[in-house]
Amino acid sequence: MTDGTNELLGEVAVYYSNRLAQHGQTAAGVDWRDTDSQILRFDQLLKLVAAAKPYTLCDIGCGYGALLDYISDLGHSIRYIGLDVSSAMVNAARQRFVHNPNARFEIASRPDTLVDYSVASGIFNVKLERSQEEWEEYLLETLDVMNEVSTRGFAFNCLTSYSDADKMRRDLFYADPLHLFHICKSRYSRHVALLHDYGLYEFTMIVRK
Ligand SMILES: C[S@@+](CC[C@H](N)C(=O)[O-])C[C@H]1O[C@@H](n2cnc3c(N)ncnc32)[C@H](O)[C@@H]1O
Repeated sequence: MTDGTNELLGEVAVYYSNRLAQHGQTAAGVDWRDTDSQILRFDQLLKLVAAAKPYTLCDIGCGYGALLDYISDLGHSIRYIGLDVSSAMVNAARQRFVHNPNARFEIASRPDTLVDYSVASGIFNVKLERSQEEWEEYLLETLDVMNEVSTRGFAFNCLTSYSDADKMRRDLFYADPLHLFHICKSRYSRHVALLHDYGLYEFTMIVRK
């Protein structure tokens, strides 16, 4: 990882640690509008996994671990690694899942081992003062990492460039879904699904190996 990316991730960590301090372990604490939209995103991302058999999952940008709660309620049999650049998030998640032997949480942005699947919900949205170009470069670097570490596939979401222009904010990054579809299809796999039909100003990309 370059010094530039480290610095960028440091700023992102401060931003989200502040959200957690303000709003606690809630959807608002990880900068979502509400729990329903947080869960709706999980439902899209989990279309990636074949849940009938046990699998390993890395959740990049896990926050306080809401996805693990959701997957546990679904009854999936998994080994889970949650990564976050915010130490406050990781501490919160570790406390919440201290009794789960199949889960671990690390302050990191890439896993230290291969996994079946990796997912990322919300990590590409808040670009703060970074330029479009710089943020896109970071996004593509991160997709390369997800591809490298995931043997069966990966999934992520982004705010969409098809959002209403008058609602768009300077500090957020709106990705072009067609461009990213092309990148995923030409660089990572022939099996790519673009989900842009679930009622939020965003899309989910599913890349199956
Ligand atoms: C919008 S929040 C969503 C949290 C969680 N995915 C959820 O939906 O409940 C994004 C989280 O990702 C973390 N994050 C952002 N970029 C990251 C990266 N490149 N690697 C690891 N964590 C990251 C932030 O610190 C924050 O906790």
